[in-house]
Amino acid sequence: MQSNPNGDASAAAPLPAPAPAPAPFLAGRTALVTGAAGGIGRACALALAGAGAHVHVVDLAEEGARRTAEETGGSLTVADLSDPAAVDALPAEVDIVVNNAGLQHVAPLHEFPPERFALIQRVMVEAPFRILRRTLPHMYAHGWGRVVNISSVHGLRASAFKAAYVTAKHALEGLSKVTALEGAPHGVTSNCVNPAFVDTPLLRNQIAAQAAAHGMPEADVVRRVMLERPAIKRLIAPEEVAQTVLWLCGPHTGYLTGASLPLDGGWTSH
Ligand SMILES: NC(=O)c1ccc[n+]([C@@H]2O[C@H](COP(=O)([O-])OP(=O)(O)OC[C@H]3O[C@@H](n4cnc5c(N)ncnc54)[C@H](O)[C@@H]3O)[C@@H](O)[C@H]2O)c1
Repeated sequence: MQSNPNGDASAAAPLPAPAPAPAPFLAGRTALVTGAAGGIGRACALALAGAGAHVHVVDLAEEGARRTAEETGGSLTVADLSDPAAVDALPAEVDIVVNNAGLQHVAPLHEFPPERFALIQRVMVEAPFRILRRTLPHMYAHGWGRVVNISSVHGLRASAFKAAYVTAKHALEGLSKVTALEGAPHGVTSNCVNPAFVDTPLLRNQIAAQAAAHGMPEADVVRRVMLERPAIKRLIAPEEVAQTVLWLCGPHTGYLTGASLPLDGGWTSH
C-alpha cells in the first residue's frame, strides 16, 4: 500500500500539482466542433480553445452551445445536423474538424423505427461527410488539417438493441479511413477516437432506455451492462476523450492517420 509523505497510509495522498496550461500550439488555427453544447463536444471545444484555437461551436441545443461559445471565446452556430441545407451552411474555412454530434436509440431490430434509423445516419454519417467535403479544400490549400471523428467502441464492436448507432459508427470508421488516404498528400490526418461509456447526458439518457430493454432496475445498468465488458470498471470522463482529441491535433501525431484509438478500458482486448 502506498503511504503519503507523513507515512499515514489511511490519509489521502497529496494532490498532484495542477497541470501547466498547454502551449498554444493551435494559435492561429480554427476548429469546428459539432455537438459542442455539452458532454464530449464541450470538453473538446474547451481543450482546443485552451491550446489557442478559435472554435466554431455547432449544436442544435442553443442554450448549451451559447454557453460553450462564451466559455471558449468562440463562435456560435445553432444548426440541426439532420438538415443537409443547414450542414452545407456551416463554416468551411476551418483547419480542424471534430465530428462529435450524435444521438442514440435503443430498441430491438424488429421494432426499430425506420425514421429514427434514418435520422441517426443523417446526423452521424451524412453530416460528417458533408462537413468534410466542404472543409477539406481549405485544409488542402494550407497543407495542414486534422479530422477527428468521435466514433465509439461501437464503431469496432456491436451491441444488441443499438442497430442504428452501431451501423452509423461503423460507417464513420470507413469515412475516416478514406479521409486519411485522400488527405495524406495534403498534410491532413483523420482518426477516430473510440470510447466505451463516457459520463455525459447522452449516457444518462441511455441508462433509462437500457433498463427498459434489459428489464432491470436502472441502478444495475451501469454496473452490470455498461461496465461488464471494459476491464477498467469505471465510466470515462469527457475530459479524457478531449485530451486524446487535443493530442491528435498536436505537434507529435502528424504520422498517425487512419487509426481508431480505443479508449475502452480493455473492452476490445476480449
Ligand atoms: N457518452 C458515451 O458513453 C459515448 C461513448 C462513445 C461515443 N460517444 C459519442 O460521443 C459523441 C458525443 O456524445 P456525448 O456522450 O457527449 O452526448 P451528448 O448528448 O452529451 O452530446 C451530443 C450533442 O450532439 C448534439 N446533437 C444531437 N443531434 C443533433 C443534431 N441533429 N444537430 C446538431 N446537434 C445535435 C446534442 O444536442 C448534444 O449537445 C457522440 O457521437 C457519441 O456517439 C459517446
